[in-house]
Amino acid sequence: SAAALATLERLARDLAIEAGRLVIERPHGLGVAATKSSETDVVTVMDQRSEQLLRDRLAAERPDDAILGEEGDSVPGTSGITWVLDPIDGTVNYLYDIPQYAVSVAACVGDPTTPGAWETVAGAVYHPSLGELFHAHRGSGAFLRTDAGDVEALSVSGETALGRSLVGTGFGYAADVRRRQGEIVARVLPQVRDIRRAGSAAIDLCWVAAGRLDAYYESGLNPWDLAAGALVLTEAGGALRGPGGEPAQTRLTVAGPQALVDQLAPLVDTP
Ligand code: IPD
Repeated sequence: SAAALATLERLARDLAIEAGRLVIERPHGLGVAATKSSETDVVTVMDQRSEQLLRDRLAAERPDDAILGEEGDSVPGTSGITWVLDPIDGTVNYLYDIPQYAVSVAACVGDPTTPGAWETVAGAVYHPSLGELFHAHRGSGAFLRTDAGDVEALSVSGETALGRSLVGTGFGYAADVRRRQGEIVARVLPQVRDIRRAGSAAIDLCWVAAGRLDAYYESGLNPWDLAAGALVLTEAGGALRGPGGEPAQTRLTVAGPQALVDQLAPLVDTP
């Protein structure tokens, strides 16, 4: 029901803000705790602390829900809701004290580990350095709420021409993936106003929702990078497309007003 979705959204908002306030207290994330898929893919001590905070709160408040987080084992559940957590999206920015990172908290139905088999029903992305909270639940519209208490309804840019579009993207951590992403960006760059690689997919999606970017694409996202921002984007009137015109997936995510998604997808949707 709408009331149940609003309850999930309220919890997502509270959790994202609480974790965001924790991480912003610590410059440079207290250093690197470990490297993951490659030397470029780092996890900071604060990624781990932020995720532990989120997991502890969820275990207390929603013990029947499942959890899928970036740092740590999945927790099974019985309620049909899975919380998909990114404790710091933009970890490399965070490590360098570049203030473009966020905490992303999403409540999903279906199986977030199977492409195309899940949907976000409520979510929040909190950008602590700017004091901006992006949030939505299914059917609610998307909103930006500032720490000062201002609330704004979000809608994607009205731009219709790719040649006038500011397009966000991102890169994975593996060298072979980056080689392919470099080829794709070389095709896109001559055809757009400019490219931004700001370093947090969750913020990129929310910024498309707010019209701060006209469109965004990336291949190889993880569910936790995508889950909350995808709902904010679609609730702001944006379209999301995956590979081969399917619903957005982690393998390829193209986001923006429908007209721009239609123009961008053929450039970036290559095997
Ligand atoms: C990364 C960021 C980045 C995107 C990468 C993600 P992380 O997430 O969202 O912008 O390009 O694909 O892995 O590692 O900072 O949580």
